[in-house]
Amino acid sequence: MKAAVVTATGRVEIQDVETPAIKDDEVLIKVKTAGVCGSDLHVFQGTHAFRKPPVVLGHEVAGDIVKLGKNVKKFKLGDRVTVEPHLGCGVCEFCKQGLVNICNNKSAPGTAGWIGTFVEYFNAPEKTLYKLDDKVSYEEGTLIEPLAVAVHALTRASVKGRDCLVILGAGTIGLLVLVVARQMGFKTIICTDTAPFNREMSLKLGAAAALNPLSEDVIAKTRELTNGRGADLAIVAAGADGILDQASACVRKRGEIGLVAMITKKIPFYCYSVVFNEQNLYGAMTYETSDFVKATELINGGLDLSAFVTQKRSLEQSQEALEILSQKKENVIKVIVTVG
Ligand SMILES: NC(=O)c1ccc[n+]([C@@H]2O[C@H](COP(=O)([O-])OP(=O)(O)OC[C@H]3O[C@@H](n4cnc5c(N)ncnc54)[C@H](O)[C@@H]3O)[C@@H](O)[C@H]2O)c1
Ligand SMILES: [Zn+2]
Ligand SMILES: [Zn+2]
Repeated sequence: MKAAVVTATGRVEIQDVETPAIKDDEVLIKVKTAGVCGSDLHVFQGTHAFRKPPVVLGHEVAGDIVKLGKNVKKFKLGDRVTVEPHLGCGVCEFCKQGLVNICNNKSAPGTAGWIGTFVEYFNAPEKTLYKLDDKVSYEEGTLIEPLAVAVHALTRASVKGRDCLVILGAGTIGLLVLVVARQMGFKTIICTDTAPFNREMSLKLGAAAALNPLSEDVIAKTRELTNGRGADLAIVAAGADGILDQASACVRKRGEIGLVAMITKKIPFYCYSVVFNEQNLYGAMTYETSDFVKATELINGGLDLSAFVTQKRSLEQSQEALEILSQKKENVIKVIVTVG
């Protein structure tokens, strides 16, 4: 079968690879759509913390079940599914608490033993499968994974206030955080992004303000919109020097900062601001199963994210799909790779 493989920084090749064999508890999925994600970009650009070429891209996926392992009980041939793309070791202290996302020995698509999703056929254990409602498109099914990231970024917060949320970076993840935060009852949501298209999109999705961090004073504007108090929570969904300082300065005393962006280089941070203002800083790594369940319920329940899909490319055009997101020459939120 065909697979899109990052063979060197900035280079994707279509290679012929073996169709995965399935274990008794697994199914084989004929891939219909796969999403290009920020972490695929990190592999493509050579900035991923540990994944180095050659890597089969992708972990966001939707498709049809075409083969069942003999122990699979709850799914049948032809079921349209998406996959929660990680597996814990099952024995570490985090797995025992259901925290597969921070398992000490986690496996994920594109790592040893599990192929990525930019392929014609993808294997996945039954316990990672989620059925798509008939009216949900494969493309929207593919968005369940990043939506689960957004759900987790917000469920990790312990701050009680819901008056104001600041989202720094309105790419796919930041905009999905916006969508989920509105459902959770955040009243005033302020987004920042350097790209005009992303700012416009955030306004369409209900942001109270969309600021350009390069030309506007994000901190002053946040203070103005909160009567000088500051936001209850800031979600950092872009990686830029100074972005943690900005987050801390936007947030009120005893407020919180959630870090979802994968900033893999050292950046300066005036951490005294966190002490002085008694703020909490937390990281959010992918999702717990409960977040994935919630994201699937939202999509199967009719949440319309079709506007997020701004470009589609075939598997053969994977190089271009990565370049679109990497170079941002066109207006882009989510690029979907269609297979077959
Ligand atoms: N923690 C996790 O589990 C997890 C999961 C998925 C993605 N991520 C990370 O989250 C980040 C966002 O992912 P994404 O898929 O939305 O990427 P993206 O590239 O779609 O979005 C990033 C956005 O930030 C904007 N931006 C750039 N500089 C900025 C600045 N100084 N201020 C505000 N905005 C700025 C860009 O224009 C872009 O729209 C990435 O670092 C990605 O690796 C983390
Ligand atoms: Zn993703
Ligand atoms: Zn584990």
